Amino acid sequence: MWKKIFGKSENANEENSASLFEQVNKDCLPRHIAIIMDGNGRWATGKGMMRSVGHTAGVKALKRTLKAAIALNLEAMTVYAFSTENWKRPAAEVEFLMKLFSEYLEKEIAEMDSDNVRIKFIGRVDELSPGLKKQIADAEQRTANNTGVKFTVGVNYGGQDEMVRAVQSLAQDVKNGSLEPENIDSKLLESRLDTKELPPVDLVIRTSGDMRLSNFLIWQTAYAEFWFTDTNWPDFDKEKLAEALLDYSQRDRRFGGLNTKK
Ligand code: FPP
Repeated sequence: MWKKIFGKSENANEENSASLFEQVNKDCLPRHIAIIMDGNGRWATGKGMMRSVGHTAGVKALKRTLKAAIALNLEAMTVYAFSTENWKRPAAEVEFLMKLFSEYLEKEIAEMDSDNVRIKFIGRVDELSPGLKKQIADAEQRTANNTGVKFTVGVNYGGQDEMVRAVQSLAQDVKNGSLEPENIDSKLLESRLDTKELPPVDLVIRTSGDMRLSNFLIWQTAYAEFWFTDTNWPDFDKEKLAEALLDYSQRDRRFGGLNTKK
């Protein structure tokens, strides 16, 4: 199995000479990874620094991880940047995060575009500030025709909220007579989700030790594999990603059926 994902060698000395990442076998990759980037605050306070320093370091980790996804030519990577529940945080932290998202777009969009990344945002983007909404719309438009990694950012996103909005849109069609309730099926509901253009999530990665989904992509992760690490998000890098991919390659995904691996 080690050989299956890393492809090169089972010889320990040879393995030590190349990073895990360099040895990832691109034939065994998930199509869509979803990342809960947790632990920025703990990373910073553990070093006696302000939580905001952790968020800034989290941006660098995100850049590293997106570059790794690009190098692997992953089809889709979705990250949880700000949940519908994160508004409960102190106003100063919320303000800092919003500023960080804005700076991130300003600084990174040209490189993402030249890396052929298609960026999209999911969640209640309409409730963000006019300035950030404009940056998001511009970034999405600029990269709309790119054919590389589909990079999706959840901002003011909640899985339950997304489902409610999808159901409201179906109910509206029933109300105006264009849809019969018995014609509602999972495919139709999926077509009303924010993630309608993305494949289902294959692998969820959550950093910083907690083992929960926290209202992230609750529909899309129905058959996903989960990988947890104690590493805080600001310390996440391509080697950690490679570790997750190795573990993923060893999972027996049955989708409710029988064994697929011999
Ligand atoms: C979780 O750490 C992180 C967040 C709520 C914010 C995520 C934001 C970033 C990683 C910045 C980069 C994102 C973009 C899109 C530029 P936490 O604050 O919950 O940490 P804690 O659990 O240790 O308190």
